[in-house]
Amino acid sequence: MLRVAVCVSGGGTNLQAIIDAIKNGKIQNTQIVRVISNNKNAYALKRAEAAGIEGVCVSPRDFDNRELFNNALLKSLKEADPDLIVLAGFMVAVPACVIDAFRGRIINIHPALIPAFCGKGYYGLHVHEKVLSRGAKVTGATVHFVDEDLDHGPILLQKAVDVKEGDTPEVLQRRVMEEAEWILLPRAISLIAQGRVMIDENGLTHIKEDE
Ligand code: GRF
Repeated sequence: MLRVAVCVSGGGTNLQAIIDAIKNGKIQNTQIVRVISNNKNAYALKRAEAAGIEGVCVSPRDFDNRELFNNALLKSLKEADPDLIVLAGFMVAVPACVIDAFRGRIINIHPALIPAFCGKGYYGLHVHEKVLSRGAKVTGATVHFVDEDLDHGPILLQKAVDVKEGDTPEVLQRRVMEEAEWILLPRAISLIAQGRVMIDENGLTHIKEDE
């Protein structure tokens, strides 16, 4: 059984996609053991509660300094004892202590085709605003492993989405979520749960064919 901890900050639609995929069997042999949010008002926590999953809030606001928050986040993750950590709309920079403790076992969903439209300042709606202002005709989403650099670790899955005439950032964000994010993240978790993902010495991922 793959034990998964999911880190969230907002609406939790990616979390919901994972919950639903486990329920309908698209993801096998996997259990979400804890949902952690930095935002106590995140609707994602209500989604966790509705699914009977333990939800906890670890907020920087509750600590006197960043190091204390980082240590509390690490403690909460270690308590959950996950095999995999999934960042699903998590708007917090993952501290080095977490990356060190779970190296190679953290994945993130980014709402663009890395290496395009990623890095500092490229999160949430801002990503889609930049895609539209640049005039890109195709965008999409990426699931990648997380390392010390923002949106930089080995790419696992990507899916392209057309930009359409008259798109607003909100309309484009929704299309990227529906047509890419909500498909890729459950699929990535399923592949990892099946033991079909490996990362080679050059930091490139390889997915073993389904037997
Ligand atoms: C999504 O656009 C996701 O790509 C980004 O955070 C946003 C919120 O996702 N990482 P969710 O609805 O909270 O899953």
